[in-house]
Amino acid sequence: MSDNSLKEKHDHGPLIFPDKFLWGSATSAHQVEGNNIYSDWWDFELKHLPPHMRSGEACNHYQLYEEDFDMAKQLGQNAHRFSVEWSRIEPAEGVFNEGEIEHYLKVLQALKERDITVMLTLWHFTIPKWLADKGGIENGEVVKYFSRFISKIVPIYEPYVDLWVTVNEPNVYAYMAYMVGLWPPRKMSYTQAFFVLWNLAAMHKAAYRIIHEVKPSAMVGIAHNIQSFDPYHKHSLREQLSVSLGDLSSNHLFYALTGRKTHDFLGINYYFHHRLRNLGGIIPKVLDAEEQQLDVSDLGWEVYPEGIFDVLSDLADERPIYITECGIASTNDDRRTRFLIQYLHEIYRAIKTNIKVKGFFYWSLMDNFEWHQGFGPRFGLVEIDYKTQKRIPRPSAYVYQEIIKYNGMPHSLLRLLGHTIQVEEVLCYKHHGPRAFCEHIYPKPPISLHHSKS
Ligand code: BGC
Repeated sequence: MSDNSLKEKHDHGPLIFPDKFLWGSATSAHQVEGNNIYSDWWDFELKHLPPHMRSGEACNHYQLYEEDFDMAKQLGQNAHRFSVEWSRIEPAEGVFNEGEIEHYLKVLQALKERDITVMLTLWHFTIPKWLADKGGIENGEVVKYFSRFISKIVPIYEPYVDLWVTVNEPNVYAYMAYMVGLWPPRKMSYTQAFFVLWNLAAMHKAAYRIIHEVKPSAMVGIAHNIQSFDPYHKHSLREQLSVSLGDLSSNHLFYALTGRKTHDFLGINYYFHHRLRNLGGIIPKVLDAEEQQLDVSDLGWEVYPEGIFDVLSDLADERPIYITECGIASTNDDRRTRFLIQYLHEIYRAIKTNIKVKGFFYWSLMDNFEWHQGFGPRFGLVEIDYKTQKRIPRPSAYVYQEIIKYNGMPHSLLRLLGHTIQVEEVLCYKHHGPRAFCEHIYPKPPISLHHSKS
């Protein structure tokens, strides 16, 4: 093989995504709106979280949504995922607040006026306090309550919604609220967790039916937290078995409970990769990524781009797939830029193997209330100064804008991962000096990558 053919293999062209790819970001009502006083979370925060950890005004997105959508639009985004807050619309049992229904109608219209594709989530972890008092998602009647709520809003919102997400991360909710007890109602029971999952599956099926009654051609799915698992030792059958059990219970069980036919698209939230290691006990342990000195986010979650390829290839069928959430908590924004490019690189690879990924929603448009962890974790493309509510787009938001403009990734961005940068830098610098370096490398003016201080 000649040197030339080797070079061609390495220097692949720019990574171009399919036409009409959705490039967006996601939020959820309680995490960004502020003053969500009729919800179970508000009540939980007052009772169990210190004042500085409470959601309070959050990002005041409830009032600033138009400015926020202007910003998303200016940053090039063509799609947006957000959720309606059940407890605002139905603050007391059976009592609907028409003003709040109108509010979300305006939010939807604001997106459409900006020509932004809408993905609407109907339930993202919070429930009305009145429902929590009646047993919340554990209550066998919850499907009836949820159906009544969505039957009220779906016909009104339908003209503005392109993609519906019925429920967000049922598995994470069952785990956090009913197994480890970190979220309301702070239960710790495997049996209850299973019932909750069962009820969430029934809520999804009901919503699927109701939305299709209103609009038969509607696209309906869930945002499912899909995790990637690997054995520490490839030869260990015990580890392999645990990997399968982890994968089945966390990734496939909910689809089994709902039936895969009630999903017009597959919505994937990807954050986690786990290595399972046999340490002598009956069940292999999930290794701590930080202890293994792996690349982790500020929350200690492993940065593992290959995992998104793995879960995509595991789940893919003929349906469209949307990455409904994917993001990193980091106060070092250079890491967010690298994260974006690495993960999108893997998604591109999946698309090249004929997996039908149709859109990517970065989590999150802006920093927000990270549940029991308060405002510490910074997931935003846009920084929020919580004292002034000022929005400050981070450099990564401009990198994302550049990706969107290009509908993919040119070499000028891939070089941020280290592709050939040293050689070119050295050569250009030696022959032409630093200014020529830029002109030589970027055929058009360089994108403005303001590096964060860290
Ligand atoms: C949830 C979001 C959350 C994000 C980061 C997802 O599990 O849908 O509400 O903020 O992950 O933890």
